[in-house]
Amino acid sequence: MQEEIKKAAEIICQARKTVALTGAGISVESGIPDFRSAGGLWERFDPMEYGTIQAFRTDPEKVWTMLHEMSAVMKKAQPNPAHKGLARLQKMGKLHNIITQNIDDLHQAAGATDVIEFHGNCKTLVCLACDQRLGAEEIEEGLTPRCACGTILKPNVIFFGEPIPSGALPEAYALVSSCHVLLVVGTSAEVTPASTIPYTAKMAKAKIVEINLMPTVLTESLTDIFLQGKASEIVTKLVHEVERMVSRG
Ligand code: APR
Repeated sequence: MQEEIKKAAEIICQARKTVALTGAGISVESGIPDFRSAGGLWERFDPMEYGTIQAFRTDPEKVWTMLHEMSAVMKKAQPNPAHKGLARLQKMGKLHNIITQNIDDLHQAAGATDVIEFHGNCKTLVCLACDQRLGAEEIEEGLTPRCACGTILKPNVIFFGEPIPSGALPEAYALVSSCHVLLVVGTSAEVTPASTIPYTAKMAKAKIVEINLMPTVLTESLTDIFLQGKASEIVTKLVHEVERMVSRG
């Protein structure tokens, strides 16, 4: 593994532009379950009943039973060494943008900048009737939040069946179409349009460095360097190697 980490660090040091794509796996060590691993969210809540915009519109109270569980976990979650490592790479000028599917705000909490959120952010609630916005910290734990107009509020996150924020996709495509390395951390790469990002990067001849506990649909077909293991451990080792190479000049 050390050899692979060295190779990954070398191409990151040589790259003029490196972009990261992250998924729920990067936040598992912050205590937030991912979606599709054993014990993941979709094992306990059927995504068709809790994860679609249709489900929310039909029975928001029911979907809030899942949302309350998620927000309680996210409120306690702190950035882990993987989030901090990516922020460190940005500060060193060795990582440009982070494209994330996560809604937990942990990249920003770790000091990362230039974060493109494909699926929104759990910190804000929105009213589907009058478009009123509210900070999620204002809602009482366990209480289903209502807008002043009486409508049950929805977290400003993307449910299945909703489009991702309008600017996110073109911005992400423009970035990865001109990057030299795409660092893919903790995603099963099963959900579009985020899952098209690695293919777009590959078409632009970028090198794909993948960090994951398990191989994914990308590993055999697209990934150039697969670093298997926990994101916090692997990212920490990778950043140390980049720092060593940078200091050696
Ligand atoms: N370190 C590295 N990788 C990990 C870790 C860890 N500690 N724990 C889990 N993983 C990996 C899993 O092996 C899996 O490949 O992270 C990936 C998580 O995959 P998913 O649960 O499918 O999450 P994600 O890819 O982010 O899902 C994309 O699907 O349901 C929607 O909107 C939701 O944003 C989410 C999207």
